Amino acid sequence: MKYRCGTCAYESPKWMGFCPQCLNEGALIETAESTRSKRRKPAAEVVSLTESGAEKVVRAPVGIDEFDRVIGGGLVPGAGILLGGEPGVGKSTLLLQVAGSVADRGGTVLVVSAEESVGQVGLRASRLGISNDAILLSSERDVDAIIEAGRSVKPDLLVVDSIQTIAAREVGGAPGGVAQVRESVARLVHFSKKSGVPVVLIGHVTKDGGIAGPKLVEHTVDVVLYLEGDPERGLRVLRGLKNRFGATHQVGLFEMGERGLIEVTDPAGLLASDRRGDVPGSVVFPAVDGRRPLLVEVQALVASTTTPQPRRSVKGLEPARVHQVIAVLERHAGLSFAGKDVYVSVVGGIKLRDPGVDLPVAFALASSLLGEPTGSLAAWGEVGLTGEVRGVAHGEHRAAEAKRLGMEKVIGPTGNGGDRILAALASAGLLGEAPHLER
Ligand code: TYD
Ligand code: MG
Repeated sequence: MKYRCGTCAYESPKWMGFCPQCLNEGALIETAESTRSKRRKPAAEVVSLTESGAEKVVRAPVGIDEFDRVIGGGLVPGAGILLGGEPGVGKSTLLLQVAGSVADRGGTVLVVSAEESVGQVGLRASRLGISNDAILLSSERDVDAIIEAGRSVKPDLLVVDSIQTIAAREVGGAPGGVAQVRESVARLVHFSKKSGVPVVLIGHVTKDGGIAGPKLVEHTVDVVLYLEGDPERGLRVLRGLKNRFGATHQVGLFEMGERGLIEVTDPAGLLASDRRGDVPGSVVFPAVDGRRPLLVEVQALVASTTTPQPRRSVKGLEPARVHQVIAVLERHAGLSFAGKDVYVSVVGGIKLRDPGVDLPVAFALASSLLGEPTGSLAAWGEVGLTGEVRGVAHGEHRAAEAKRLGMEKVIGPTGNGGDRILAALASAGLLGEAPHLER
């Protein structure tokens, strides 16, 4: 219950004979509903499920298949997309090509490059053979000015390169700092949601802790993509880590060449094609990434050392997995890595998260340790702590792909639960007899 002054609308929780605000002598009047409390609790907007627009999501493909697949089929209005990756991996190049493709399809793209001058971006575009009036360039750094430009241009896509070089004026700290990156990204995502303009934000992954990385803002965007690859090699992997509009864990493959990134449409044999089966320490792994099989070469080198702390160097895999495989080989296969440096790497600079890589790692390690080449061998399987070899998803798919690409021997878990590392090594011709895992 509230009491209100009839003259100035002053409200009080208790009755008084005069108004303490306008000093009117008429008593406060009892009101059932207070206008102030109405103002304090605005009702949330509510829509019915069928009107929520879920089935009306429109996706506009950018026209680069390897990119479209990873973002879930195309650009969704109001989508906030983050593209992370190490400096020099090709993020700016990829998005300039995306801009070119969107423009070729009749769309308008606003590319804001706070990192490079308009002239530098133009030069890169001409090197890539991109020339289209519908691509608008700016090198603005102020996030509100960028949003203002977005409002007036209303592009079909806004690209901001990069979140570490733009800044929000009232926020303290240098561009690239935690507060600046958070606030700038929040404002851009808000603009995107309000206006419906899809926004792609580039973020550098840096080892230097002084600069806030893309991880910091992953939760504020709808789609998180990372571009990976070995700068020394041409292959680039575009990976979807989060996608509110489609399947995550999709992968797009490109090759960096003289004229930018070229889509790789049949990647299967790409990373294992120049492999020679006649040297120890090399095994092919049919990885399944984003449902597409990709044959990659896993290499190991085991070398004697006199240092008390032998090296364990791992590239392209989780080091913990490799350490575990080494322990299992020591305990369950009688192999000793004591006094040995161990190097394990995945060829091509890509990072594998597929648990099926354990068995090829075990084979490559044993092969190098024993000095026994494995020949034309492809393998997969997860190795457990008790020496069992467990099945992983897509076994049939992996076997088929390895055979299609001409691998002579294909070893994978049978799936009946009785597969052991020792028997697997025997199947690969690395230890003893009794092959029973060969498929
Ligand atoms: P860039 O897109 O600038 O990387 P990022 O934005 O992720 O920092 O790409 C930089 C590298 O790509 C650079 O080392 C040169 C190479 N590159 C090519 O090999 N071919 C090309 O056509 C282009 C434009 C770049
Ligand atoms: Mg760049």
